[in-house]
Amino acid sequence: MAEEPPELFGPGFTADPYPAYAWLRRNEPVRWTVLPSGVPAWLVTRYADARRALADPRLSKDPQRHRAAEHASGRVGIPGERRANVTPHLLNIDPPDHTRLRRLVSQAFTPRRVAAFEPRVRELADRLVDGFAARGSADLIDEFAFPLPIYAICDMLGVPAEDQEDFRHWAGMMLHTSGRRGGVARAVKHMRAYLGELIHRKRDALGDDLISGLIRASDHGEHLSEEEAAAMAFILLFAGFETTVNLIGNGMLSLLRDPGQLARLRAAVAAGDEEFVALAAEELLRFDGPVELATWRFATEPLTLGGRRVAAGDPVLVVLAAAGRDPERFAAPDALDLGRTDNQHLGYGHGIHYCLGAPLARLEARTALRTLLVRLPDLRLAGDESQLRWRGGLIMRGLRALPVEFSPER
Ligand code: HEM
Repeated sequence: MAEEPPELFGPGFTADPYPAYAWLRRNEPVRWTVLPSGVPAWLVTRYADARRALADPRLSKDPQRHRAAEHASGRVGIPGERRANVTPHLLNIDPPDHTRLRRLVSQAFTPRRVAAFEPRVRELADRLVDGFAARGSADLIDEFAFPLPIYAICDMLGVPAEDQEDFRHWAGMMLHTSGRRGGVARAVKHMRAYLGELIHRKRDALGDDLISGLIRASDHGEHLSEEEAAAMAFILLFAGFETTVNLIGNGMLSLLRDPGQLARLRAAVAAGDEEFVALAAEELLRFDGPVELATWRFATEPLTLGGRRVAAGDPVLVVLAAAGRDPERFAAPDALDLGRTDNQHLGYGHGIHYCLGAPLARLEARTALRTLLVRLPDLRLAGDESQLRWRGGLIMRGLRALPVEFSPER
């Protein structure tokens, strides 16, 4: 009996898109789809096709390569990025510009540099739990997963402590309005204006933070314009924020729904088994990661993808969430198995745009898991699971709130 095609992006899909993705993988692994914005694109759902597409140089990141670039303007990419003048960022450019700009920041994100940041992330995580531990209940998104990456990335960039609340406010605007492009665009505008001003201010007092590093690079003839420096600071914030919020949020939800796996992780944390905690963080990312679809790509020439003809200028969206559940690649893909070792998921992307912040993301994820499980030993979901609501939006997947209960800390 022929299966019915799924309703993509409709009611029910956001809460659990995985059955629809399974249908696509089986029946139409590369499918031409009109998105809710009205813009059509190819959706790629099989692991092998996804991995190939992510590293294919014929798929450009430059929105000008879209065959309907003018028509789709404002409906493709980060909302408001053109008006806020942050378009020349890493996720919108190809080599050689991409190679040059990425080289400038990559040394800030080596595992060694990021490891030096670990005490600070631990301290932040503990301070956030201090804020609610005595209460016996919390919203893990609003009180933990949301502020942790904002403060972490602000510290790295060198945003002064007195300005970080402004950032928290704009980031909140971004998060609470996601799914509505206008709200995100307003937050993007505020952040860009602030970053331009901060770059200006820092010129007189350079420190050892990332923004100072970018200014030095632009002053030392490394061909980094001020506009590029601001776009870089912006993309680090933008790419490093909601992703981490949702990695912690989705990850904790997966654990709280699966007491057996939660107990396994608790035991590993108690035994100081860091290797297991690291494996668990990868599995949570594969199982229900924050980046549902990789960012936009555009064919620069006609090509074949999963047996379909893709025309020059066609947009291509790689569905990371679908690739992560492909039974051709992962054993029992719909099961959460925190000890999974054969786990080369695509949750951080693949190829030259592979997540620059992955070492920081991993550090934040491990620290969050450890802190929450150590400090809140009988953590559980509060209320009815059917009340959980997911935010809309094409690229990211995450909860609006994650209410939990636990024995109050004395
Ligand atoms: C917490 C989990 C995170 C996940 C799951 C994640 C995932 C991803 C993915 C899938 C891509 C590739 C997108 C594509 O090819 O279309 C990417 C790129 C990127 N990520 Fe992350 N990310 C995370 C955290 C971070 C953090 C903390 C930072 C920085 C502070 C960051 C900075 C970036 C940047 C700058 C890029 C663009 C790299 C390039 O184009 O060369 N990410 N990320």
